[in-house]
Parts: sequence; structure tokens; C-alpha cells
Amino acid sequence: MAASNTIRFLLDGNLHEIENPDPTETILNHLRYTMARTGTKEGCAEGDCGACTVVIGELDDDSIRYRAVNACILFMPVLDGKELITVESLRASDGALHPVQQAMVDTHGSQCGFCTPGIVMSLFALDKKNKNADGNAIEDALAGNLCRCTGYGPIIDAAKQILGSAATENSGGLKARVDALKKFARHQTLELVGRNALTGTTKKYYAPVSIDGLAEVVEQHPNATILAGGTDVGLWVTKQHRELETVIYIGGVSELQEIEDHGDAIDIGAGVSYTDAMDKLGALYPDMGELIRRIGSVQIRNSGTIGGNIANGSPIGDSPPALIAVGATLVLRKGSSERTISLEDYFIDYGKQDLRTGEFVARVSVPKPKANQHFRAYKLSKRFDQDISAVCGCFGLTIEGGIVTDARICYGGMAATPKRASHAEAAITGKPWSEETARAGMKAMEQDYIPLSDMRASADYRLMSAKNLLMKAFVETTSSAQTRVLARGEAGNAG
Ligand SMILES: Cc1cc2nc3c(=O)[nH]c(=O)nc-3n(C[C@H](O)[C@H](O)[C@H](O)COP(=O)(O)OP(=O)(O)OC[C@H]3O[C@@H](n4cnc5c(N)ncnc54)[C@H](O)[C@@H]3O)c2cc1C
Ligand code: FES
Ligand code: FES
Repeated sequence: MAASNTIRFLLDGNLHEIENPDPTETILNHLRYTMARTGTKEGCAEGDCGACTVVIGELDDDSIRYRAVNACILFMPVLDGKELITVESLRASDGALHPVQQAMVDTHGSQCGFCTPGIVMSLFALDKKNKNADGNAIEDALAGNLCRCTGYGPIIDAAKQILGSAATENSGGLKARVDALKKFARHQTLELVGRNALTGTTKKYYAPVSIDGLAEVVEQHPNATILAGGTDVGLWVTKQHRELETVIYIGGVSELQEIEDHGDAIDIGAGVSYTDAMDKLGALYPDMGELIRRIGSVQIRNSGTIGGNIANGSPIGDSPPALIAVGATLVLRKGSSERTISLEDYFIDYGKQDLRTGEFVARVSVPKPKANQHFRAYKLSKRFDQDISAVCGCFGLTIEGGIVTDARICYGGMAATPKRASHAEAAITGKPWSEETARAGMKAMEQDYIPLSDMRASADYRLMSAKNLLMKAFVETTSSAQTRVLARGEAGNAG
């Protein structure tokens, strides 16, 4: 079947078609510079401030699932087959404010107004997703929206006003929009050759729809940039001004969007967003769910993927230490063949992963908890929300009859890769799970890591806090439930 060279998306009920767009033009730039829709603002251009928040709707059977995202780091072609909603879309045909906007007026939720369109869009998405959102969920929905002058009290009041009122609807009617999205759902590869209007550079973009198609394209273009959620790749363009010659987008590959339950393990496809993985993994390991909730913001988690968090090889990615501590394996695909490795073996050294030419990450397989297994995850960062870890400590401990029979301890932020604390593990395995054993593990950990000092933390702080996290895990796995220090989420810790 011939590939398509045209992206199609819905905006304000109208179909927009663009033939061979510049593949790495951001949605934000297109809105502001081409469409003159300047309600969506640019603050940081790196996914941190939320001024550029828009909502993307994706077909979900006979409904549409709406999610807030950062337009500043998403490329235009990812809109293909979707609905885009911007702050301008909310205005009623008679010019009346949308209830979310009216609530912001009523509660005095805006002063200079720069953050306001982004906040309105985050609240719009929250209202669509969860009418029963409580205080924590409201704060979570706003954690990716920086307001420098109003203060969050009135904005939270606006959220409560909206959530307490009848459901809001955007223009056009749901059924008409579902029908429209169904009509232009793509069944063949998107293949674009676009030009950067400023530099004149020509770029290619492929978006296959099946894993076989993806395998073929990746083998044909082994030097292409694989694009998943773009929460890293987007910044290469907006912050480092890199020209990506060939991009292969995996977000349209149906097999990579799947979460499959195999009885003793669940497989998370490489294209599954943090938002979709969070509940599934959190149901197995509450602390893992909470750790994922501490990644970025709602907007970042709606785009970013677990696969990207692994594939990028970062030593401070949050999901790899947690997944390694529960013994996850990684499935890599090249051509028609797959190979499976333990996740820890993927990380060879700083910037070096076990990923061969023409290969890509297909899925991660996460074993379910075994009897007597305890899992704990703790993220230390300068801010609670929307911050990268200084140290992330994860513990998979099996304790039978008071004895540690298996220990998998893995840290992020302590070495050039996510790295297991093998000396600490050896020091506690086979021993009674006592304070003395935990202290022996802490001492042994000094042989496991020689951390760096950087802007996030000094080497001394990192080592001391890593050791103390083992003690925290000991206290939490041996004391009564009352001593468990819960973070904001009821279900898990990760704080
Ligand atoms: C504001 C902000 C906050 C953030 N906060 C956190 C945080 O708290 N914790 C954290 O861990 N990270 C954080 N990040 C980093 C980022 O969200 C993660 O690294 C994310 O998981 C990357 O996934 P992605 O899907 O967006 O990947 P992309 O940006 O699309 O890709 C990342 C890299 O992986 C490669 N890649 C992606 N998928 C595949 C695949 N299937 N096969 C092979 N290669 C692939 C890409 O080529 C690229 O090199 C944050 C980022 C931003 C912008
Ligand atoms: S402009 Fe700051 S998050 Fe997009
Ligand atoms: S109202 Fe000024 S930044 Fe929020």
C-alpha cells in the first residue's frame, strides 16, 4: 500500500491537511507562526512550564480520550489522525467564555495572564478525565503549569468550581468528532519529506503503523532518530537546535501501544506512555506507580514512554532502577528477529547501550510480585514535582521467615548507568532482616558506588542518602503500617 505524505488532524471541528510538513516543526511554532493562534504561549520550550499546554484527543473506540500535552516539544506530524484543542477552541460561538475560563475569572485565578491559557487547558483536560478529582489530583494536574504571580490558591479554587459543575463539552459534538476521526484514521505508513523554512534543510519522517513495518524502516534507515514521546528528542531540536535528518515515529505502531498480561508478568510495549503504564505497574507495585507519578508532569507523562526512558540510556531515568529491582527483561527487535536480555545488561556504560544497528526496543517484560517479596522505591529530587532525580533507590527484597532470601537493589544517579548495589545485596542476602543487617548493607554499599558531584547533589550527599534509603526500606518492611511514611498518593511511597 502506498505511503501517505499528508498529515490530517481535526481542529475546531474542521479537518486540516498538510502535505509534507517540516517533520520537526513544533506544534507550538505552527500554531503561533503559521496559524496565528497566539493564545498558546511559549515559556521555556522544554516541557517545564506548561505555558504551551494544548489538549490532544485520540480515538478510543466510540469515544475520544483527551490529554494535556506540551505543544513546545511535540512535532506537527504526531498530530496525524488526532484532534487538537487549543485555548482558542474553547470559545463558544456566541463568544461566551468556556466554563473553565469563567471559573478562572470568578476565582481571580489570573494576574499577568501569561500562564493562564496553559492552566485553562490543563483544567479542561482534568475536567474531561476525572470529574471526581480530589485535592491531590488537582495539584497533580497543575504540577506542570508554572504560575509566577497569582499563586495557586485561586487556581485550585477554579478547578474545584469546574469539577463541581456539570460536564463541559467542546464545540462540534462528540459523535461528529468521533466519526471524523474514524474517517481519517491512517492504515498505511506516513512518509514525509519536509523542508525547514528557516534553514532550507530537507528532512524525512516515517510513521509506520505495524511493528513489521517499523522493523523494516529502522533497518533501512539505521541512523535515523527513533521518536517515541519526544520528551527528550523534542528538546534536541528546541534547545540544542539540532537538525534531525530522518525521524522514525513509533507512536502509530499498534503493537507497541499494548500492555499484555501473561499471568506471571506483564509486557509493556515501547510506545506505552507513562500515564498508561502508571496504573498497571502501580497495581502490581504501588511504589512503582507513585514513582512514575513523580516523573515530570501530567503533560510529560501523557507523551513520554517507559520505552524511551529505557532506550535513552540515562543514568538518572526513574523507571530503569525500579524495573531492574523487580527483575524486568527487555525485548529488542531487529528485522524479523527478537532477542531478550535482562534490563540491567542493556546499560553498558554512560551513553553506551546494548542496542545494535537497525535494532529498536520493542517491549519490557515486568514480572509480577512473588510471595514474600517487598518492593520499595524512593526518589530524591530538589523539588517534589516535575524534577529529575538526584538519587533514585529501588529495592526488591524477598524475606522468608525473617531471612532475606533474595535482594535486588538498584540506584539511579549513583553511577554512569542505573546500577545494582551488588556488594550491599551480598551483605544482606541469607541474613536475618535486622537493623544490624541493614547497617552491614549500608557499609557494603560504599564499595558499590563512587558517585559524582553535580548541580543536583554532591557525591557525599548521594552516597549518604543512598545508604540511608536502605535503612528506610528496612524500617518500612519491618514495622507496622503506621510507620510507613506515605507521600501524597495514598497507594505508594516513592517520596
Ligand atoms: C520537563 C521534563 C521533565 C522530565 N522529568 C523526568 C523525570 O522526572 N524522570 C525521568 O526519568 N525522566 C524525566 N524526563 C525525561 C524524559 O521524559 C524521559 O527520558 C522519557 O522517558 C523519554 O521518553 P520519550 O518517549 O519521550 O522518548 P523520546 O524523547 O521520544 O526518545 C528518547 C530517546 O530514546 C530513543 N528511543 C525512544 N524509543 C525507542 C525505541 N522504542 N527503540 C529505540 N530507541 C528509542 C530515541 O531515539 C531517543 O534517543 C523529563 C523530561 C522533560 C522534558
Ligand atoms: S513552553 Fe514551557 S512547557 Fe512548553
Ligand atoms: S498569572 Fe502571571 S504567571 Fe500566572
